[in-house]
Amino acid sequence: MPSKREVNSAFKQDVLAGLSMTPKRLSSRYFYDDQGSRLFQEIMTLPEYYLTGCETEIFTEQADAIVDGFLAAGTDIDVVELGAGDGSKTAILLKHLLERDASVKYSPIDISKEAIDELAENFRTKLPQLTIEPYVGDYFAILDSLQKAADRRKIILFLGSNIGNFSADATKEFLASLRAVMNEDDLLFIGFDLQKDPRVIHQAYDDAAGVTARFNLNLLDRINRELGGNFVKENFLHYANYRPIEGSARSYLISRQKQTVEVAGQRFEFDRWEPVFMEISQKYTLPVIENFAREAGFRIAKNFFDSREYYCDSLWRSEPR
Ligand code: AVI
Repeated sequence: MPSKREVNSAFKQDVLAGLSMTPKRLSSRYFYDDQGSRLFQEIMTLPEYYLTGCETEIFTEQADAIVDGFLAAGTDIDVVELGAGDGSKTAILLKHLLERDASVKYSPIDISKEAIDELAENFRTKLPQLTIEPYVGDYFAILDSLQKAADRRKIILFLGSNIGNFSADATKEFLASLRAVMNEDDLLFIGFDLQKDPRVIHQAYDDAAGVTARFNLNLLDRINRELGGNFVKENFLHYANYRPIEGSARSYLISRQKQTVEVAGQRFEFDRWEPVFMEISQKYTLPVIENFAREAGFRIAKNFFDSREYYCDSLWRSEPR
């Protein structure tokens, strides 16, 4: 696990490099400090942000079938959740697993200590019989330790369409690195937001209450605090769009005026209306999902859809190498 200092220096390098690019960019990977995680929890309750409701519906309505898939190769399992957040959707599945007398160890991993502490506290009351081993950290860094824990069968959960925040290349690389730490009979359960009415997608990233705007702007606060920046949030506006051809929702912070911002002793010039690219949220088709699975060395065991077919949780087995 990298030290806090190493994490901070990667953050600094990425921010300085991103602000030096044309067009400028900041990575949504850094949205999730404690305040960012709180804002994301709020986004998940917004009427426009359908993703959470869809995944909750799938888990609630199809828990038995999902758990059948999880337990097909045995009832002793380590459930590892990457980017667990508050774990509330996962609790539905864990409860069903315990009801089936599975012996489960649950390892939620999240970058926010506050989110992980709250999750652990919640689960201890909600599911006292569950063995829980939480980790605070970046899930890229945790992959190595996963490989070492090879004595029990593991099910890796990557929910919430978190995969959508990666570029296509990063997606391939990430899936291949997951495949590399998986043994025969391990499973990957992964959430994909599907392509649908573009207006529905657009609204999800441009909510009326402005929570998504605050979520994006919070990264400027984080840069000010952790990297000695002097961004003035009011000088930027949040802009989100959806590109139906690429299937991607994208968000930007737009400079409202010509301005100079200092970060870690470096000066950055912004033109009036200059965009900073913040986040991609990719939406998928089934052939694209199948292709990602095949290329990374997986086979789809089963797809689970919500009633509107907005969203798909896909259960993958690793193909023998
Ligand atoms: C975490 N991730 C899947 C969210 C998404 O939908 O891309 C983050 C988010 N960004 C704006 N709203 C939610």
